[in-house]
Amino acid sequence: MKYKRFIDQETLARRVGELGETLSKDYEGKNPLLVGILRGAYIFMADLSRSMSIRHTVDFMAVSSYGASTTTSGVVRILKDLDTPLFQRHVIIIEDIVDSGLTLKYIFRLLSARLPASLKVCALLDKEIAHPGEQLVDYVGFEVPNRYIIGYGLDFDQQYRNLPYIAHFENIDV
Ligand code: IMP
Repeated sequence: MKYKRFIDQETLARRVGELGETLSKDYEGKNPLLVGILRGAYIFMADLSRSMSIRHTVDFMAVSSYGASTTTSGVVRILKDLDTPLFQRHVIIIEDIVDSGLTLKYIFRLLSARLPASLKVCALLDKEIAHPGEQLVDYVGFEVPNRYIIGYGLDFDQQYRNLPYIAHFENIDV
């Protein structure tokens, strides 16, 4: 399938570096826990964590996503839960992309119930048009159009995660 690059490596690195600096300022002295949502966030999480200059810890959670389809099923299943207790921790959910927002809302509710000291969301990409009027993300890398996006951790049928840049297919609109 043909795809087109639209956020290059340098632009990604610069923006992820800025997010890391912002988080380092906002969470200074708070030893935040970054919760990466597998599998899509693994590359973003690794680069973001390395760009932060403050003490922090990381953990991962896996949820079911689209499978081989490109539209949301609305059903979210926890495939792997966190190992770290969240009680009284400053927690930042790290997402690859927020589309309809269903996955994020589900995870947010689940983690809030564990009584963290604070709970915020940092997403590399936000398809704002897919959840109009809802502010779901506290820290966002890029607003993106309503296209199916691949690369830098994001897949189509488990492929393309290794592309070092962000691309979209030329013939799939979602
Ligand atoms: P949502 O529940 O519709 O917000 O979808 C969230 C999850 O679906 C993301 O964390 C991704 O794993 C996946 N997803 C949504 N849109 C895309 C896309 O354009 N490309 C690749 N994965 C996507």
